[in-house]
This record gives sequence, C-alpha cells and structure tokens, in this order.
Amino acid sequence: MSDTAENRILDAEPSEEDLTQQALRPLSLDDFTGQPEACENLRVFVKAARGRKDALDHVLLYGPPGLGKTTLAQIIAKEMGVGFRPTSGPILTKAGDLAAVLTNLQPNDVLFIDEVHRLNPAVEEILYPAMEDYKLDLMIGEGPAARTVRIDLPPFTLVGATTRLGLIAGPLRDRFGIPLRLRFYETPELQRVIERAASLLGIAINKEGGLEIARRSRGTPRIAIRLLRRVRDFANAGGKNLIDKKLADSSLLKLEVDALGLDSADRRYLRYIADHYQGGPVGVETIAAGLSEQRDAIEETIEPFLLQLGFIQRTPRGRLLTAGCCKHMGLALPVQMSALPLLEDENDA
Ligand SMILES: Nc1ncnc2c1ncn2[C@@H]1O[C@H](COP(=O)(O)OP(=O)(O)OP(=O)(O)O)[C@@H](O)[C@H]1O
Ligand SMILES: [Mg+2]
Repeated sequence: MSDTAENRILDAEPSEEDLTQQALRPLSLDDFTGQPEACENLRVFVKAARGRKDALDHVLLYGPPGLGKTTLAQIIAKEMGVGFRPTSGPILTKAGDLAAVLTNLQPNDVLFIDEVHRLNPAVEEILYPAMEDYKLDLMIGEGPAARTVRIDLPPFTLVGATTRLGLIAGPLRDRFGIPLRLRFYETPELQRVIERAASLLGIAINKEGGLEIARRSRGTPRIAIRLLRRVRDFANAGGKNLIDKKLADSSLLKLEVDALGLDSADRRYLRYIADHYQGGPVGVETIAAGLSEQRDAIEETIEPFLLQLGFIQRTPRGRLLTAGCCKHMGLALPVQMSALPLLEDENDA
C-alpha cells in the first residue's frame, strides 16, 4: 500500500480499483448500508418532493472521503426518478462553464457538484440566483455596453459534496435546504458492506474474516472494499479459497494495516510528530512540509480518522498526540500534555 496521503485520493486515470468501486455502488436507499439519520431524512424529503412533483430541495453532503457522498448523490437522482448530471468544483473554471451545464438541465434533474468547496467565486456568484429562483444572470458584451439578461432555468436539485465543510462560503452553505453529514461507519455496518461486496465479486469469506477486515477499515466503505480485494489477492496467491480471520489477519499485517486500521501513512504522520516535536503541539503546515505532503491531503485523508479515534487533538498551537495514541504506538508521552484549548472540528458544525 502506498504510504503517501495524496495517493489515497488522487488518481489520474480511473484504475481497475475505481471501476470495481463504481460497479459496487448501491443503487437505492434500501441497498445503502449505514448512515441511518441521513437516509431517513432523505426518504422523507424524496417522498414529499415526488408527491408534489417538485424538484427536491438542494442537498449538501459532507464528510471524510470514501463514506458514500457520490454514491448517495446518484441514489438521490434514482430515487427521485430524474437525470443525474455530475460535475465538480475545479472543472467549472468560468461562469460560462456553469451556465452551459445549467441551461442543459431537464426539469427536476440532479446537478451533482463534487468538491463544491473548490468553486471559483465568479462561478459561485451565478450559482446563487440559480439555486434560489432558478434564474441565470448572463452578462452580454463588455465595457459600458455590457448588460445582463435573465434566463429562466428549469427547476433542479443541486447536490453538493465536500470533505471540507469549513471551506464553503457561508452564503453558499445557507442555500442548501438539506445539509447531511456523513459519519464514519460502525464495524457491523462495514461488515455488511464487505459481505455485500464479496458476494457481488464472488469472493468466499466467512463472518469472522469479514469482521476482521471491517474492524481495520478506518470506518470507511471504500477502504473496506479495497482491503477485501487485497486480502483476496493473498488468498489466491496462497491457494486458499476461503477468507477467514486468520487469513484476513495475516494479509492485513503484510499490508501494514494494524489492529485499529492504521496504515503506514497514518503511522508516518504520528511518528513525525512524536520524533520531531515530542508529541506536539505542531502546526499542520510544518507537518505537511516535513512529510512532503499537501496540507489538504493531510487534513482530508489522515486527520479525520485519527481525531475520531481520539489519537490527536487540534489546538490553537497545532496538533498534539494524545495519551491513547502514544500507548497504541508505543511512544513516550508528549511533554506538553497539558490541557490546551481545543479547536472545533470543522465537520462538527
Ligand atoms: N453505504 C454503502 N454501502 C455500500 N457500499 C458503499 C457505501 N458507501 C460507499 N460505498 C462504497 O464505497 C465507495 C466509495 O464511496 P463514494 O465514492 O460514494 O465516497 P465519497 O464520499 O464520494 O468519497 P470522496 O470524498 O473521495 O469523493 C463506493 O464506490 C461504494 O462502492
Ligand atoms: Mg465522491
């Protein structure tokens, strides 16, 4: 397994891995495991909107990578019985790009904007009246002769997804009538995700084997499915045809995934703080520079689960390892173990 955080999220071409994950996407709310609060709310709102033959109110899905934001966006379109038009914040570079997308929508379509926190402000500007009144303000001409024309749009549902709620501008955030937070999955939920994926992929696995992989998947379906496929590789290579606890355990050990699911990228991050800053506090920029990683990648893919485990704290002076982390990693306790005020986790909002 790669030990850079970047590789967990950035892939130039869709790999075989991506294609499998895509094929495994549940297609309905009934088929979607976990996230009971988000799913219950969606059921109610979808039913009501369908009953009125209206577009569903705009939905904002937020939470760490791999928890099912894109999957849920596709499910929303399916459950509404409307078209699904995917795009993403960084792709929409000019106002005209978004205008082209908006004017091509069919009534009640789902427009999915992934990484909605990365929208250009000029694009965001024309999104506001589109979201609020289904109107598009287009600027025609330049200089003193320039004028705006207002075009009617069909009613539509914007589904925005983000791993970084804190980076979304307030006015944009306020225009989503249905904000839904996705949380890390419980082990039994991941066990169901693994059993479902195994059956779709024709992989033989028993309950204990599934449980072992589930426990070590960092609360994340994408990681659970990836680990299942890697463990299957070890099974094939060893001439075994059933994944049980022993095989899962030995394979995950070879993949350097520990008992709590921490991998080499997590350990590299934690050791850096322990070895170079006596357990912290140390600023995230410094950590990013020291590890030659992007700050965003660290904040999006490494820290959320470590925060969830209670292994790090975010303080005004930077990241601090906790006693629980030091115990798990066999590290000396940080010098600065005093009660520093904590920063709010942006995902808690
Ligand atoms: N509730 C679930 N049940 C079964 N499989 C799931 C579930 N949620 C996610 N998955 C699987 O995990 C994979 C990752 O989910 P998805 O791509 O929707 O995550 P995401 O939140 O959009 O991630 P990112 O922030 O990286 O875009 C999916 O391809 C799907 O196979
Ligand atoms: Mg996604």
